Amino acid sequence: MSPFDLTRTLPADAMSAALRADVREGLTHDPKQLPPKWFYDAQGSELFEEITRLPEYYPTRAEREILEERAKTIADITRARTLVELGSGSSEKTRLLIDALGTPLTYIPVDVSESALNGAGRALLADHPGLTVHALVADFQRGLELSPTPGPRLVAFLGGTIGNLLPEERAAFLASARAMLAPEDTFLLGTDLVKDEATLVAAYDDAQGVTAAFNKNVLTVIDRELGADFDPADFDHLALWDRENEWIEMRLRARRDLTVKVPALDLTADFAAGEEMRTEVSAKFREEGIRAELAAAGMRLRHWWTDRKGRFALSLASPASPEG
Ligand code: SAH
Ligand code: AVI
Repeated sequence: MSPFDLTRTLPADAMSAALRADVREGLTHDPKQLPPKWFYDAQGSELFEEITRLPEYYPTRAEREILEERAKTIADITRARTLVELGSGSSEKTRLLIDALGTPLTYIPVDVSESALNGAGRALLADHPGLTVHALVADFQRGLELSPTPGPRLVAFLGGTIGNLLPEERAAFLASARAMLAPEDTFLLGTDLVKDEATLVAAYDDAQGVTAAFNKNVLTVIDRELGADFDPADFDHLALWDRENEWIEMRLRARRDLTVKVPALDLTADFAAGEEMRTEVSAKFREEGIRAELAAAGMRLRHWWTDRKGRFALSLASPASPEG
């Protein structure tokens, strides 16, 4: 058996149908909006990796600090023989978990970005003999069918990506994560925490403009995939803190009146100068909220670990017993 295989549960035409539906819905919605999963073509995945190295973008470093401190404990508690990771990207921080869990181990990275999965799989296998990698190109919001692998299973969702789901999407996602767990399995969740506005806004509006390029990359994806004629230079990047919802909102603001053609959808979209289109929310959390959302999905929060500055948290949860 090969130590690496990649399965596309999303054939290219299903991916493209989902993109078409999202773009049609989003550009005809008032106000216009696009879901963040379309940032991540090969270029978007690379831009995200660049973001993780920016001085202003603390979440990756904070989560890494927690993993450096707690990976051994997580391995001792979970005794996982299969690690499933949703939205795995480069799997860089995951190495800490993989090293702590030891081999034999089956690692199932799940991502919409095939380029990220290929890069991560190759890099991991180069220095982890004994690791089996079953990469899955899939949308973690659409329910996953995982092939049977050795238990116990640890399902990890790192990086704070859960914050990119809207509240109702989050509830549905957590219910589907719970459905993946047998009684002895566990769920590891990374969440960015509520903090002062200046720190948050700087993390999403960096001085070098990398986040701006990442935000505008969604337009390039739509141009390439749907033949649209968005010019990223016609838009400004915005990052705003929504105090009420406790999320950062990324938007693209039209610099002038413009009409965009999307031939694959037989659609034109008019933007007025100054019109803003939401491209991402990045929700920030508190311990009690996470405990409650996990409980609502049938999971019990067992451990809550933060970095030393209290910026980011890792939660370890297990299926709630019938008594809760
Ligand atoms: N977990 C990594 C990467 C976070 S970036 C880290 O902590 O650094 C978010 C990742 O989730 C990207 O690789 C993106 O391609 C993936 N992603 C976003 N939406 C997704 C979806 N609906 N289904 C599967 N993967 C998704
Ligand atoms: C992947 N996700 C957790 C990132 C975040 O912080 O919400 C995506 C991102 N958007 C802008 N910068 C990074």
